[in-house]
Amino acid sequence: MKARLDSLTAEVLDRIRAAPSLEALRQIEQTDLARKGELLSLMRGIRDLPEAERAAFGQAVNRARQALEEAVAARRDTFSSALVSAAVHDARFDPTEPAEPLPRGHLHPITHIRREIEAIFMGLGFSVVDGPEVESEEYNFDLLNIPANHPARDLQDTMWLESGHVMRTHTSPVQLRAMRRAEGKVPLRVVAPGRVFRNEQTDATHEHTFHQVEGLMIDEGVSVADLKGVLNLVLGRLFGGSIEVRLRPHYFPFVEPGFELDMRPAGSAGKWLEMLGCGMVHPDVLRGGGMDPERVSGFAFGMGLDRLAMMRYGIDDVRWMMSGDPRFLQQF
Ligand code: FA5
Repeated sequence: MKARLDSLTAEVLDRIRAAPSLEALRQIEQTDLARKGELLSLMRGIRDLPEAERAAFGQAVNRARQALEEAVAARRDTFSSALVSAAVHDARFDPTEPAEPLPRGHLHPITHIRREIEAIFMGLGFSVVDGPEVESEEYNFDLLNIPANHPARDLQDTMWLESGHVMRTHTSPVQLRAMRRAEGKVPLRVVAPGRVFRNEQTDATHEHTFHQVEGLMIDEGVSVADLKGVLNLVLGRLFGGSIEVRLRPHYFPFVEPGFELDMRPAGSAGKWLEMLGCGMVHPDVLRGGGMDPERVSGFAFGMGLDRLAMMRYGIDDVRWMMSGDPRFLQQF
């Protein structure tokens, strides 16, 4: 059997090396190297050999198989390089011609505006921090003064997970994570951009998955004036004089006093678009974060990144942002 294996292997090797075309090579693969071919049935014959001869025959079979596979690959290579060299020497083919330009990728409008905002805040001494998108009830609600059964829980339609966790409804839980990490040390200045999720009825200004940038500054003697100063500066850098801004009182359980900030293009009598919530961090929230409200105070805000991008680029419907539609994305 060993002798037959050797002679058959040599025969097929010769045929492979002499194959005149790719098609002929494919034929050899389909007949001689196929499951039903003599070679493979010979290889299967190992079962009928006496125990003592099997190992040696097995090794011979593996060597033969490897030699044949290598020969096929080598023969195929000679054809491909012949094809390439024929193409290169074809008078109609000009290898110096520039290639078709490949389409270039680019950043999403949300990424553009997020990076701009991060850069502005870093210039003001804030650091950029992160928090989990799957959040505990404690961080998303309890520590933010929103206990179970409190009507404030209904302000944000929540996606609950079976584990009892939530898809975070806002970036505010990162306030608590940052405070606890600071272990009472001030000044604390952080921004936390990220994705948030709500079980919303969507429309032109409401998505179920959107983006916020949380901001938090805690130190001795921080006041509403600091909050206004920082927001004015940041929005001024982002929009120049192209927008009008209005601040109005608003209730959020985790700040006192609290505000909402609206924007519209300067000089337009159009509708105001609500951009962010903000206020002075509630003493209970400071305490929960390990800060002493008798000694320090702070402001916080949560900006809607999608809405800022809408204002910046003149986008009329927030649902474009997560649509993945190239007709939209290719404009940025
Ligand atoms: C909050 O989420 C508070 N955590 C903000 C905050 C932080 C207040 C710190 C005080 C201190 P609100 O639900 O209003 O608040 O959302 C904040 C911003 O996110 C809105 O002003 C808006 O710009 C944006 N936003 C809210 N819901 C949506 C939505 N469904 N689609 C797109 N943007 C939204």
